[in-house]
Amino acid sequence: MRIAIATETEAGEPRVAATPDTVKKMLGLGAEVAVEAGAGVKSGILDADYVAAGATVGQDVAKGADVVLKVRRPSAAELKNYAKGTLVIAIMDPYGNDAALKAMADAGVTAMAMELMPRITRAQSMDVLSSQANLAGYRAVIDASAEYGRAFPMMMTAAGTIPAARAFIMGVGVAGLQAIATARRLGAVVTATDVRPATKEQVESLGAKFLAVEDEEFKNAQTAGGYAKEMSKEYQAKQAALVSEHIKKQDIVITTALIPGRPAPRLISAAMVASMKPGSVIVDLAVERGGNVEGAKAGEVVEANGVRIVGHNNMAGRLAASASSLYAKNLMNFLEILVDKKTKAVAVPWDDEIVKATALTRDGAVIHPNFVPKSAA
Ligand code: NAI
Repeated sequence: MRIAIATETEAGEPRVAATPDTVKKMLGLGAEVAVEAGAGVKSGILDADYVAAGATVGQDVAKGADVVLKVRRPSAAELKNYAKGTLVIAIMDPYGNDAALKAMADAGVTAMAMELMPRITRAQSMDVLSSQANLAGYRAVIDASAEYGRAFPMMMTAAGTIPAARAFIMGVGVAGLQAIATARRLGAVVTATDVRPATKEQVESLGAKFLAVEDEEFKNAQTAGGYAKEMSKEYQAKQAALVSEHIKKQDIVITTALIPGRPAPRLISAAMVASMKPGSVIVDLAVERGGNVEGAKAGEVVEANGVRIVGHNNMAGRLAASASSLYAKNLMNFLEILVDKKTKAVAVPWDDEIVKATALTRDGAVIHPNFVPKSAA
């Protein structure tokens, strides 16, 4: 069994799908591992580090591989190098990308999407959304503090007192929880909001104050999978009224609100941005999914009435070494269930709920129920 680690071809993707540590584990599964030259450089891993771990390093490693591990979905050009039946595992970004899924089906590869990992206890160590969102939440606060022209903690000095920054975290999933913890560690006074009732206690246990419209709809806003539902127009209006009063007094706002498979909910209007003090900073972690903040631009820091709106893409990638290390472990833990330890070959357990949740294509067709083309369904 040959496992290939490809260099990411997409601009702005510094992460890599394996580390020397996971290479050793793959060898332990009985695999040969081939890493594309330079694949780890942007994550601080040299070719020599992979070689020292037991991998070979070369070009076009995907040719003839049984398994290709990637960060991002392979492009059409990359797919040309993959043999039929190759198992390809990556963050596939499947929603709204039907043509790309069809291209993988047409190439005959077995594609698995890491971000569709079910949120069950057994799959926690494979949960890429969590591993990367946690880092993104941390980095959002660090980026906010870099853009902010004042200190976060209260400082009492001989020359006078500096007040603590007020930080408001919108959306308290994995990223939001880490943002709360990080802003608290830096000394900010933190408030947070979410539509899922379960978050109230989590926010308070981190020493922050919870703020939300706690009506009947709020009490039912969590799906069985633990995600948020899209809220009604009426709820959104009530939420906006509450937020607009609160936001005027905030120095830092971090938005992280997402709904799986839907555009990100719009939580901050241009008028709310305009109501904030000049020098305040907003970080929109949902910017790649349509954005929570009106006026946020993906890949840019824009200024509106003196308020900076940070819209960096790939926030986890801004901590590439940490992000790669966790992502590579997520992949490794998944790979363990896809390989037969006795025969040392790929043996996908098609009935496993983890496989059913993540498998996108097989034998020339898109098979995932959420993405099967309408004509075939
Ligand atoms: P996410 O990235 O899908 O969304 C981020 C947050 O935005 C969520 O908390 C969501 O409720 C919130 N949100 C959506 N619409 C909103 C609105 N209009 N206003 C304010 N907030 C809004 O969520 P993430 O981070 O993936 O976490 C979802 C849940 O899954 C959490 O409860 C998390 O603890 C849980 N989880 C469970 C795991 C497991 O059991 N294996 C692993 C990881 C997370």
